[in-house]
Amino acid sequence: MSKVTVVGAGNVGATCANVLAFNEVADEVVMLDVKEGVAEGKAMDMMQTAQLLGFDTTIVGCTNDYEKTANSDVVVITSGIPRKPGMSREELVGVNAGIVKSVALNILKYSPNAILVVISNPMDTMTYLSAKVLGIDRKRIIGMGGMLDSSRFKYFLSQALECNANEVEGMVIGGHGDTTMIPLVRLATCKGIPVSKLLSEEKLNEVVASTMVGGATLTKLLGTSAWYAPGAAGAFVVESILHNQKKIIPCSVYLEGEYGQSDICIGVPVVLGRNGIERILELELSDDEKAKFTASAEAVRKTNADLQSVGAL
Ligand code: 2OP
Repeated sequence: MSKVTVVGAGNVGATCANVLAFNEVADEVVMLDVKEGVAEGKAMDMMQTAQLLGFDTTIVGCTNDYEKTANSDVVVITSGIPRKPGMSREELVGVNAGIVKSVALNILKYSPNAILVVISNPMDTMTYLSAKVLGIDRKRIIGMGGMLDSSRFKYFLSQALECNANEVEGMVIGGHGDTTMIPLVRLATCKGIPVSKLLSEEKLNEVVASTMVGGATLTKLLGTSAWYAPGAAGAFVVESILHNQKKIIPCSVYLEGEYGQSDICIGVPVVLGRNGIERILELELSDDEKAKFTASAEAVRKTNADLQSVGAL
């Protein structure tokens, strides 16, 4: 029996659980939340769609009862507060660090072999915090940001190209921040054709700019941060792990010398399978991409340093 826990039954967590169930990624999905009754209510609501949508996954909701999460194969952490319009993800570190730390420790107590997928913001720093406090094999700690940013990149490319987004390939590496992410235009293609052959430099610059502020644009429109794409991207990552699909997905992972970086979690392409991170792919970056990656890592380190000032590390 396969089991996935989603901690946090807010917009992102509930969407992730819903996509996991709808796609029958796991036999059982447990949602846990601190707010009395919310996870139970959302689980029951989702279960009432099972015969409408035709899925067999069982969804269970619980209020802070970690025993119900026991022996999960994969655990998705979405806990904490989302950003409000005008806020950066990095500003959430003070509130979210304590929450994510206690969630990660509780999860490991009941699911000592679980693979963790961290979505809470600031995502790279929350992934780093989880890696540091849990001290488990780095293969089992995966930050979900690169998949979401890549989906947004592919969406904006498809809009500019006026084509189906499924024809577009593209990847965003670096930090999951408005100024730290790096959409890799050089490697993006449409039906195998480099996008640089199909779009002007000006258009491509617009696509990159829209991608980088993709989350902020939605936060401004919605009054809170987005959830459909973040939740679905989380489920996509879980599926590659649980079904051993070995998809290449940019994720925030703990680096030990790869890309010239150590003691940091930041987005790079990895192969995701049943062991979590099966392999880290080292792309040959251009000088410009390398400089951007170094600057991105410096910015992520700055936010990581806040973990000490807020007493989380
Ligand atoms: C976003 O970019 C929630 O960080 C997430 O929408």
